[in-house]
Amino acid sequence: MVDVISVLSTSDLFYGLANSSLERIASHLKSVTFAPDLVICREGDVGHSMYIIVEGNVSVSSNMGWGQRELDRKGPGAVFGEMALISNDVRSATVRTLEETECLQLDSEAFDSLLDKDPIMAQRIAKIMTKRYSTLVHKTSNELLSAYRALIFALANMTESRDPETGAHLERTRHYCVLLAEFLSSHEKFRGEITPSFIDGLYQAAPLHDVGKVAISDSILFKPEELGAAEYEKMKVHTTIGASMMEKVIRQSGSELFRMAYRICLYHHEWWNGEGYPEGISGEAIPLEARIMALADVYDALLSKRVYKPAMAMREAEKRIRDGAGKQFDPIMAEIMLANIGRFEEVYLTYQDEEPA
Ligand code: CMP
Repeated sequence: MVDVISVLSTSDLFYGLANSSLERIASHLKSVTFAPDLVICREGDVGHSMYIIVEGNVSVSSNMGWGQRELDRKGPGAVFGEMALISNDVRSATVRTLEETECLQLDSEAFDSLLDKDPIMAQRIAKIMTKRYSTLVHKTSNELLSAYRALIFALANMTESRDPETGAHLERTRHYCVLLAEFLSSHEKFRGEITPSFIDGLYQAAPLHDVGKVAISDSILFKPEELGAAEYEKMKVHTTIGASMMEKVIRQSGSELFRMAYRICLYHHEWWNGEGYPEGISGEAIPLEARIMALADVYDALLSKRVYKPAMAMREAEKRIRDGAGKQFDPIMAEIMLANIGRFEEVYLTYQDEEPA
């Protein structure tokens, strides 16, 4: 005969509850034994019971879209099937026995009435559950976030292998963007719009600005002289190609980060006076992040050596930004950049291309 109270008091959900609570729970429990390789909870099904394992082991797995993946294994003392009862939702995962497994079963009605009758127990369980799931969610979301960020940068770097202009250019431009956005955020005009999450998004999305160049032919991309008019027209298409690549991602994920990347890809060659491309929009109709990117991109291009042109001196580049204010660039942004130009020069010097051996 199972000592139900001692199983409960060592179980990960009920430990620490007062004896009177444990006894109340025990009076609702039913002992059940499951054969090996049997599904106890099936993902997506409605759930009516939760279980505490007395002996044996189960595997928790979930359908990840590309296949079934094991999330966890649980043994004596562990609880499963509680999520559907608490959230009143379907089973979040499939639980299958790995061997013959003995459990204590608690039905949803009994679980609800226990929570109703014993507010202290309800509070205690809520605390344990919150702790348990916040660690889980935190861990998973951190893992996902870093994978996601690495993937975006890898995607942006694809252009590096095909584009002689990139290399440290991606690193520098994302840092110029962040620097400029930080300066702008204390200006009354941009204060409400440029938030820390905007700046973080900009840091992630900026390296994607030229991703559309993957579709531009080598003869144009690697041409050792300045492009002719027809070639220049073909080169311009990298903005719309990049945007349509981002559009495909947005259709799958709808993430704000890729919406920002979309606007950067499409509009980073627009001019404040409407003489840019691809749409010829002007002034504040050009999205904020694209106006920032335009300054970062041009400034870096001026300072960098190309096969068809030498690097420009810092003072000369600064003058070009000044001349472009109100024509090519948002005049307030250009002014703020120029007022802090030393900080941009530091970024340029910090992230240098490695010279080929
Ligand atoms: P429920 O959603 O009712 O049914 C499936 C059960 O699997 C779920 O309750 C939890 O007990 C358990 N479960 C779901 N996801 C995980 C996970 N990531 N790690 C451990 N156990 C889980």
